[in-house]
Amino acid sequence: MSRKKIVAGNWKMNMTPTEAVALVNELKPLVANDEVDVVFCVPAIDIIPAMKAAEGTNINIGAENMYYEEKGAYTGEISPAMLVDAGVKYVIIGHSERREYFAETDETVNKKVLKAFEHDITPIICCGESLTQREQGITIDWIRQQIKIAFLNVTKEQAKKAVIAYEPIWAIGTGKVATTEQAQEVCAAIRVCIGEIYDEATAAEIRIQYGGSVSGASAPELFAQPDIDGGLVGGASLKPDFGKIVNYNK
Ligand code: 13P
Repeated sequence: MSRKKIVAGNWKMNMTPTEAVALVNELKPLVANDEVDVVFCVPAIDIIPAMKAAEGTNINIGAENMYYEEKGAYTGEISPAMLVDAGVKYVIIGHSERREYFAETDETVNKKVLKAFEHDITPIICCGESLTQREQGITIDWIRQQIKIAFLNVTKEQAKKAVIAYEPIWAIGTGKVATTEQAQEVCAAIRVCIGEIYDEATAAEIRIQYGGSVSGASAPELFAQPDIDGGLVGGASLKPDFGKIVNYNK
């Protein structure tokens, strides 16, 4: 089964609305590639202007986070209906920075994943180990636990549409990209885990990205691995290099 590659930018807490429009306009011609799903996950306040700037292009505008309640007294949060109304089809869930600085847990990640599917938004579900965990030799155990909890009560049909991003924490923003073997090993283990939870067909369909210091230089080898279906890109998604990552196959 051939899975369409998906390359997503995670802008994190960068770009004012004005800057966002300028960046979309700058990157627009560089990220044209029909063979790849292209997503820019942007700060909530940038979603509407970025969406407008991306009109008529292959760029999908996504969100970086979402709350798991429908509406109400949750000051500062963004609801799934707000994202849907703005035209959003993808949302990053459980990024390691949200887990570290905003106390997200595997349980809140699971609630958000379920809520995203309820609203037909594709979650990009993040997992990843710390350097200590890698050195302790518990990477695969840890990732399997994150995946199993994230997918609790998610149906097979929903799981097939999910995107998983494997992001080793030690590779994020450090310029220290995981070796292709390390990235492939964990992405393969994630696919095995999905196969155990659901079945072979679901495992074959789900898309798994690698994230952590991906660049135009490292993307071709990473994305050529059998279990790596694209990337979740931080720093390089704010630069023309993102065009090289999207066009890794050209
Ligand atoms: P960098 O590409 O800057 O390492 O960030 C990766 C990341 O956290 C994407 O979500």
